[in-house]
Amino acid sequence: MVRVGIVGCGVVGTGVVQLLLKNSDLIEKKAGVRIELTKVADKDWERQRPFEVPGHLRVTDYREVLESSDIVVELVGGKSFAKDLIKEALERGKHVVTANKHLLAEDGYELFKLAEERGLYIGFEASVGGGIPIIKAVRESLVGNRIRAVYGILNGTTNYILTRMLEEEIDFESALQEAKQKGYAEADPSLDIDGWDAAHKITLLSYIAFGSFFSFAEVFVEGIRKVDLLDIELGRDLGYTLKLLAIAKSRDGEIEVRVHPTFVPEDDPLAKVRDVFNAITVDGDFVGKTMFYGRGAGSHPTASAVVSDIVDMAQRIVYCKGIYTHRMGWEGRELKVNRNFYSRYYVRFDVPDRPGVLASISRVLADYHISIASVLQKEKVCKIAGREGEHIVPLVILTHKAYERDMRGALKVIKELPVVEGEPVLIRVEEEAE
Ligand SMILES: NC(=O)c1ccc[n+]([C@@H]2O[C@H](COP(=O)([O-])OP(=O)(O)OC[C@H]3O[C@@H](n4cnc5c(N)ncnc54)[C@H](OP(=O)(O)O)[C@@H]3O)[C@@H](O)[C@H]2O)c1
Repeated sequence: MVRVGIVGCGVVGTGVVQLLLKNSDLIEKKAGVRIELTKVADKDWERQRPFEVPGHLRVTDYREVLESSDIVVELVGGKSFAKDLIKEALERGKHVVTANKHLLAEDGYELFKLAEERGLYIGFEASVGGGIPIIKAVRESLVGNRIRAVYGILNGTTNYILTRMLEEEIDFESALQEAKQKGYAEADPSLDIDGWDAAHKITLLSYIAFGSFFSFAEVFVEGIRKVDLLDIELGRDLGYTLKLLAIAKSRDGEIEVRVHPTFVPEDDPLAKVRDVFNAITVDGDFVGKTMFYGRGAGSHPTASAVVSDIVDMAQRIVYCKGIYTHRMGWEGRELKVNRNFYSRYYVRFDVPDRPGVLASISRVLADYHISIASVLQKEKVCKIAGREGEHIVPLVILTHKAYERDMRGALKVIKELPVVEGEPVLIRVEEEAE
């Protein structure tokens, strides 16, 4: 029997309590360990929850959880208290399970080191992809592979917003309001829509896929706040669907870790991932590409992932004392994070509909070694405040692969051309075949 205590009984914590109370007999039959839920700490027991936590489990002081458990489950969220709690638990010799991607992506190095020094384990399956067992898959099922890339849709809120914009032809603000009404977006949605949540998750996936820690500040992050419905529609005309992708790639001893709105071909499986669902592709040198799909958040799916870590750890405590197979930082050196990506680009310029415009733009692109794959010019007139009645149209250029630095250099010159109105729009393009 292994004793488990939970700190934080909110959305996820309540789901974990419910699962453990409902399925502990089943877990014992399947896994050969009995999980005993000892205490559940939360600040507020007056609040209504979708599941009534039995009175004898409820406490308000987290220290009661530390005292009564072999495994401490941190489900408070945020950084400061959660970090102190995890450190205290590790210092007292407890294994830890957490869903806190924010904390682990930014301060994980310190916490994982502390755990390793003490022969303890931090489980974080629930921190990426909610109910999708992606951490276990990358660490265990794909352990024989050198991972070349991990990428996908890691944030349900933004995927819901982009799905609604595409399917209902509504603008970003209207789709965001809808997401809030449905409970998919928080009152302050910035962690999701500005890309930080996906960035935290891809950072954790990179740590385990490439075996190296790096500073979270190195991750390139661009959210969907500025996405214009016009580009979603123009992309669709070109055969692409816009998604917020989190991408981590390893190449020549360097890694790229980035989050940004991305066009994927409409027949790519990622283009078919709608609403709040998540999907992650892992590309390994022997297995090739494998894809994982499911609910990336929510009380029950996330609880399912938390419990998988609890059972994993409980089995190790009972059956293989002191043996922890999953080393963090196994590469033994820091990999360089490369921000000069090599990608295809969609660029939209708002230009007057007259001869010579394309020639002047393509000349600059050529100066920066950027080759054009295709061009789309619509007769649809752009709406520019104060310029109504002028014939300004969107001109879209799709490039072959080019370096980010060259692309940015070219855009700096192009936006100063007298024929270009306002800021060009730049969206990266990922092809499944790459
Ligand atoms: N929700 C999801 O679908 C989901 C999915 C994947 C990962 N996660 C992660 O899971 C973690 C928990 O998320 P959540 O959605 O369950 O958050 P939540 O609903 O806000 O729950 C957190 C709970 O912790 C309580 N708490 C705060 N400080 C405490 C303290 N000092 N001692 C005891 N309890 C305390 C909060 O009480 P008050 O409300 O009174 O402050 C609240 O009941 C976060 O790291 C989140 O990123 C969530």
